[in-house]
Amino acid sequence: MNNRTSTTALITGASSGIGAVFARRLAARGKNLILVARRQEKLAALARELEQRYSIAVEILLADLSQPDDIEKVEKRIQELDNLDMLINNAGFGTGGKFVEVELDKQLSMIEVHIVATMRLCRAALPAMLARGRGSIINVSSISAFLPVAGSVNYSASKVYLVNFSKALQAELAGTSIKVQALCPGFTYTEFHSTSEYQDFDRGHIPRGFWMSGEAVVNASLRDLARNRTVCIPGFINHVMIALAGNDAVSPIVRAVVKRFRG
Ligand SMILES: NC(=O)c1ccc[n+]([C@@H]2O[C@H](COP(=O)([O-])OP(=O)(O)OC[C@H]3O[C@@H](n4cnc5c(N)ncnc54)[C@H](OP(=O)(O)O)[C@@H]3O)[C@@H](O)[C@H]2O)c1
Repeated sequence: MNNRTSTTALITGASSGIGAVFARRLAARGKNLILVARRQEKLAALARELEQRYSIAVEILLADLSQPDDIEKVEKRIQELDNLDMLINNAGFGTGGKFVEVELDKQLSMIEVHIVATMRLCRAALPAMLARGRGSIINVSSISAFLPVAGSVNYSASKVYLVNFSKALQAELAGTSIKVQALCPGFTYTEFHSTSEYQDFDRGHIPRGFWMSGEAVVNASLRDLARNRTVCIPGFINHVMIALAGNDAVSPIVRAVVKRFRG
């Protein structure tokens, strides 16, 4: 392996979907990678592909982020690094069904993966980033943070945490060079809706124009990171949906258009 750069990015949920796209994008930029998830074969295949194609170092770290011991394992790996340049807290999943029906264990796991793991990994990464005076953190939330709907009670609530956590953390880090982003995708073509939780979900029921590719989502995220935007909502249609819900997180232009359209 030829390490062209000494900086490293750690990506959770890198075995598929948006996390795997981040891995490809950052590999193309010459970053060494640490890929975290549970499915070893998928991580290993991606690691092989990226090492060969980009001559970078790729490490895989198996972890179930719903388990405190595994979160601690990732924390420890982060604390060993003196060159962590990017942390992408992307691992996540949805549950199908109403709050009173979904197993309590699944809901607790969701809070562990979305909230606890993200918070702990940020806490583990920041001291060295501050000491080095550089670093970026992307926490993958969702437009659900702005659109709470029946059937995704804990999902949207946990994604709200990620938006507010990221905004407040960025405010605390004002005056440093550390960037924090809450990435809030809408419907994205990934494996997210292919799990058993979504066996009754038909992608065809959602108009095509509402869907984005993982590549488009990651492009928007990296572009907004370069522009120091703390909340990234990829795709115009997602801005419109959030504006229609009366939320002012969207751009002022879209808000003005929607206000005019609503009369
Ligand atoms: N797709 C959408 O429409 C959409 C919309 C808004 C937000 N998002 C968010 O985008 C993020 C990425 O999801 P995706 O759309 O790319 O879906 P995906 O293809 O299903 O990827 C989810 C990733 O999270 C990992 N993961 C899930 N549970 C985990 C656990 N307990 N421990 C460790 N890793 C775990 C999975 O890896 P393993 O299974 O190998 O562990 C996988 O790599 C999620 O946070 C999701 O909430 C997605």
